Amino acid sequence: MRKLTNVLVTGGAGFIGCNFIRTLLLEIPDFHGRIINLDNLTYAGNLFSLIEIEEKFSGTRYFFENGDIADKHIVDMVLEKYDVDTIVHFAAESHVDRSILGPEIFVKTNIGGTFVLLEGARNYWNKTGISKSDVLFHHISTDEVYGSLGVDGYFSETTPYAPRSPYSASKASSDHLVMSYYHTYNLPVTISNCSNNYGPYQFPEKFIPLAILNIIENKPIPVYGNGKNVRDWLYVNDHVLAIWNILTSGNTGEQYNIGGESEYENIKLLHILIDIIAPKIGLSVEDINKTITFVTDRPGHDLRYAIDCSKIKKEFGWKQTVDFFEGLSKTVDWYLINKDWIEKIRSGEYQNWIKMFYQS
Ligand code: NAD
Ligand code: DAU
Repeated sequence: MRKLTNVLVTGGAGFIGCNFIRTLLLEIPDFHGRIINLDNLTYAGNLFSLIEIEEKFSGTRYFFENGDIADKHIVDMVLEKYDVDTIVHFAAESHVDRSILGPEIFVKTNIGGTFVLLEGARNYWNKTGISKSDVLFHHISTDEVYGSLGVDGYFSETTPYAPRSPYSASKASSDHLVMSYYHTYNLPVTISNCSNNYGPYQFPEKFIPLAILNIIENKPIPVYGNGKNVRDWLYVNDHVLAIWNILTSGNTGEQYNIGGESEYENIKLLHILIDIIAPKIGLSVEDINKTITFVTDRPGHDLRYAIDCSKIKKEFGWKQTVDFFEGLSKTVDWYLINKDWIEKIRSGEYQNWIKMFYQS
């Protein structure tokens, strides 16, 4: 089992990153290391998600550095200051619609930032002479790199890459860079490609939290196109546990697909969500149904994603622990309780984005 002493988490103030940090420090007794969170707090990152972590672990097992992963000086400084042995790279621009409106920052962060991190890791670990078996660069990627499926079939680790949005193309490029550092420089790397996550602390531009909040606030729920696009949903904590398995026991140079095995058409998902939320907020299903609004489709909207995750199941005995209905119900409860989190993250920037998106 790999030791993980000084773990650099990039993008730890975002949705999956903050869940990862919370789980490692609060729920995994086998983790004894320190976490350094490098995040430049874009609209999608906020430290309110980590208040409990700050209070319990700041200065001992948790450290925050406000900085851009594409800034070589900051990355080099952080690697050296904390003597980093493990990098878990979440930081990215992550929203497909934003990549369609403004692709440049996706190239800069997702490709350029990953490059700077890889170079930093290669140089720093060469300089310290640390054994390759004691370090790891784990790159968090997406199933979107594989493109779009028809009504059947699954993405496996050997499915050829065929990204179709600027977001997925930037993630695919970063995956290729990561693998090139393994083959060319023998940098110990692993990659995981995950399907759609949902759960607490997700920024409400993504479909599930957006729908939850719009239902609570009696606003229209936008459904793109005919609502027949299919996504494979995974509760975020199950993603985190899969990453933990890879970090501790994954083989370098390997890629692992992670999925929920929980496929739903968007419109079907919405009806399930409405059935769950209606009794919790004292509204009728019929009244909420009236707020479903079919809007212009996303350009190049991928029809279906579905993951074959037999490799990670077989190798680590990992499996999903939260079924979709239970996970959705827990997520709804979380958003109902955490109104102050929502208010804090709904900054002016978020309102501007919504305005810009619906005008374009
Ligand atoms: P997110 O958008 O919620 O958070 C991204 C975080 O990265 C934010 O805290 C942001 O401030 C930070 N960040 C952005 N640019 C940065 C930069 N230049 N320097 C430092 N920090 C920066 O994203 P998420 O949903 O938590 O996704 C995390 C990772 O997982 C991404 O790489 C994404 O591609 C991948 N992924 C996400 C999903 C999903 O369903 N959300 C599924 C599969 C893979
Ligand atoms: O598959 C993994 C990917 O999942 C991650 O790599 C991305 O970072 C993450 O954003 C997510 O991408 P999607 O585009 O699938 O997620 P999103 O929540 O934006 O959309 C889910 C589905 O719902 C998709 O088919 C588009 C649709 N949708 C989305 C929004 C925001 C709507 O119908 N209406 C909406 O308002």
